[in-house]
Amino acid sequence: MYRTFTCGELRIAHVGQEPVLAGWVQTIRNLGAMTFIDIRDRYGITQLVADENTTIELKDKFEKLGREFVIQVKGIVRERSSKNSKIPTGEIEIDIKELTILNKAAVPPFTIQDDTDGGDELRMKFRYLDLRRETVRKNLELRAKMAHVVRNYLDDLHFIETETPVLIKSTPEGARDFVVPSRMNPNQFYALPQSPQIFKQLLMVAGFDRYYQIVKCFRDEDLRADRQPEFTQIDCEMSFVQQEDVLNMFEGLTRHMFKEIKGIDPGEFPRMTYADAMENYGNDKPDIRFDLKFKDLTTVVKGKDFKVFDDAEYIGGICVPGCGEYSRKQLDELTEFVKRPQVGAKGLIYAKVNEDGSVKSSVDKFYAPEDLSKWTQIFDAKPGDLILMLSGEKDRTLPALSILRLEMGRLAGLMDKEVFRPLWVIDFPLLEWNEEASRFHAMHHPFTAPKPEDIALLDTAPGTVRANAYDLVINGVEIGGGSVRIFDSELQAKMFKTLGFSKQDAENQFGFLMEAFKYGAPPHAGIAFGFDRLASMFAGLDSIRDVIAFPKNNSGRDVMNDSPAEIAQAQLDELCLSLVAPKQKN
Ligand code: AMO
Repeated sequence: MYRTFTCGELRIAHVGQEPVLAGWVQTIRNLGAMTFIDIRDRYGITQLVADENTTIELKDKFEKLGREFVIQVKGIVRERSSKNSKIPTGEIEIDIKELTILNKAAVPPFTIQDDTDGGDELRMKFRYLDLRRETVRKNLELRAKMAHVVRNYLDDLHFIETETPVLIKSTPEGARDFVVPSRMNPNQFYALPQSPQIFKQLLMVAGFDRYYQIVKCFRDEDLRADRQPEFTQIDCEMSFVQQEDVLNMFEGLTRHMFKEIKGIDPGEFPRMTYADAMENYGNDKPDIRFDLKFKDLTTVVKGKDFKVFDDAEYIGGICVPGCGEYSRKQLDELTEFVKRPQVGAKGLIYAKVNEDGSVKSSVDKFYAPEDLSKWTQIFDAKPGDLILMLSGEKDRTLPALSILRLEMGRLAGLMDKEVFRPLWVIDFPLLEWNEEASRFHAMHHPFTAPKPEDIALLDTAPGTVRANAYDLVINGVEIGGGSVRIFDSELQAKMFKTLGFSKQDAENQFGFLMEAFKYGAPPHAGIAFGFDRLASMFAGLDSIRDVIAFPKNNSGRDVMNDSPAEIAQAQLDELCLSLVAPKQKN
């Protein structure tokens, strides 16, 4: 037996016992007469000690030891004279009797402790060492626990966990596919699934009734803190259900996870239409931990010779409680913030409500006190509040105001990571116009059902058709998304036509699905949760990288194994591939 206890297990009750421990050397302190070694494994740290009476042989071994050496020790548990209340094993230590060096270790490039001295890049390159740190590993442990909780919950409700293929025919979900050349079928390619969408629908045709899978998905898209090229979904589908059933079922799963993992009840899951979300928050994933809803002032502020407002299509604002004390410098900084290209506003108008109720604004010369007091009524602004307004074209101003709202939420300390405010955003548009391709794209995916009452509009005003599609949003993050599906092959064919697929293209890409629909497809609907996003939110982290054991960096590279990488000419030949010079990026 390599060990009889882990390094996190021994307590005062074990005093006198003779355990065998195995683990990594965290620290060695040689104080002349006494030698202290901290041994570490996944479960904790135990102090080992040897005094001046120890054998020459052991002393020799101590000389050889270095950080991260793998050792096995046998000794006697004794009570510590100076206890360490910070660690669970802090009341005891092991008087070393035998020590075996199981493996040497090179000096690690950074310290294996919570506040390591290693930078991001270095820690990624040596990810297996980074994962030795408790702060990093505990995120992966949380993730594993979440997967377990999800499986238990869905298994109990008779969902069948089913694996779907990873080498598939491309399924459009809005991103680019990663493709895999087929050696046996020269010049043909598989795609890696952006999601198992079509397969889960086929499982409904197959009569599985309830399906789920915790599944890797692959999308070749620009990476951000909440996006990885390969990520994991909790993917689900149900038959004989309507939108309401799906929302209730997965609200149940979400509540269960909050309870089991965080020990909290997340409260109500309000429903908000996409149209309301855009109008009030400028965003289809509003963070409702705080209010700061937009007010439309377009009709109120025009006609006072203030050209900026008079010329604007839309004028909207937010009222931030308690920020009326903002200094000139802070307001200038905010103005600079909204003028950044990422936000794109031309300027910022403010109005501060003074303690006596009077208003001081940046446009006082155009607006009389009565006008300004009308503004405060619209915002229900109180003394000490700050009104911030942006103006311009509506479809540019709403998103800019949304960024400003989030920034103010952050500055005003309204984004507590331990507060969770979920909501369902519903009634998404079915289609969105793609300027570049000059055709409609499916906003969710092409299998999403239009609202029955909007179907007629598909021919006349496709852009206004609403879908039975929904997103689960928590704290401003899109955690999950799904829809009721089209289950009628004719409607599906019409949808492909609206999306600009020729009959032939639709047949080539989706013929098998439409064929399947001819054999008795049940009404069905589903959803997929972004598992990494949920895990990182539960862990209180800003990036999903920290809940992925071996993540990619922002250029899609694994810096540890240096991939993607070139392959041998022989491999290329076998795959009938030839290399071309990369296109210049502009
Ligand atoms: P959707 O494309 O909305 O829906 O994806 C579902 C959820 O997956 C997460 N997600 C990501 N997480 C990390 N990195 C990414 N690159 C990434 N892309 C998406 C998000 C998102 O809400 N087949 C449909 C689901 C359905 O209709 O049932 C789908 O994949 O949290």
